[in-house]
Amino acid sequence: MNPKTWTVLELINETAQYFKKYNIDNPRLNIERILEDVLKLKRIELYLNFDRPIANAEIEIIRAMVRKRSQHIPLYYILGHAPFINWDFKVGPSVLIPRPETELLVERVKVLSEKINASYFNILDIGTGSGCIAICLAKLIANISVTAIDKSKEALIFAEENARLLEVENKIKFLCLDITSDININLQGAPFSIIVSNPPYIKHDELKTLAEEIKYEPQSALDGGTDGLDFYRIIIKKYTSYLAHGGYLVLEIGCDQGPLIQELIKEENNSISCEIYKDYQGLDRIVIAGY
Ligand SMILES: C[S@@+](CC[C@H](N)C(=O)[O-])C[C@H]1O[C@@H](n2cnc3c(N)ncnc32)[C@H](O)[C@@H]1O
Repeated sequence: MNPKTWTVLELINETAQYFKKYNIDNPRLNIERILEDVLKLKRIELYLNFDRPIANAEIEIIRAMVRKRSQHIPLYYILGHAPFINWDFKVGPSVLIPRPETELLVERVKVLSEKINASYFNILDIGTGSGCIAICLAKLIANISVTAIDKSKEALIFAEENARLLEVENKIKFLCLDITSDININLQGAPFSIIVSNPPYIKHDELKTLAEEIKYEPQSALDGGTDGLDFYRIIIKKYTSYLAHGGYLVLEIGCDQGPLIQELIKEENNSISCEIYKDYQGLDRIVIAGY
């Protein structure tokens, strides 16, 4: 008997059911994204070509990806790339998958740059990971130079490749640096107009309670210590000295951390203005402090 020939729509329906059994969130969207990549069709085209037969070679590739996804390996690690703002970033298990909340951080820095209205911007991105923040800022702001640091050499390989693919490698300096080390470094590029960071901010004990997918992401990109604030303390104490007078510190934060971080900033210098911004879900997400 000949093996069954699947059509696009049959495969979407069957796989969505299969993913549901394995408690995969948004089961239909997951198989759509896999098919978009393997069949090189846009989502709408999948439905316009709903009765297109799937070749055996394609089925093999799709099956392998579906099997991985059913084990809760994150979709974007399986695809090898993730969307962020208007661009696509290469990702793998050594980098955090860029999150939609972080797009707001980039938007805020862009708004600030328009407000500052300087002829040149010097920006420091602490914990660059895939490079998504640094690279988008380099794409969106004219006359910019970014210094992007991370302690993970493996992450920096992704960040450098993303910068090259998105043609901003001339605007970004990547440095391998552990901000918890005590060495007083002479940071190239300082003083900065803006320091931006999405640091690890999950409380250590909360890590094991998170969705299974998150356990595949680098824990060093997530673990913010006992109270989740370790990296904010270091950035506020050690790194704000690299800001130019009138510069800004822009931080992504956990939704319950805003007032605590405001307090940390005020403890250092009570005259600093400090505002909290909410994300689209109405949760505290960004702190901006003017120095
Ligand atoms: C939450 S991830 C953010 C990644 C990326 N900026 C983003 O928004 O998707 C935090 C990043 O900080 C880096 N990191 C963790 N500890 C660090 C340290 N001690 N020094 C420098 N970078 C560190 C991690 O490797 C990771 O890439």
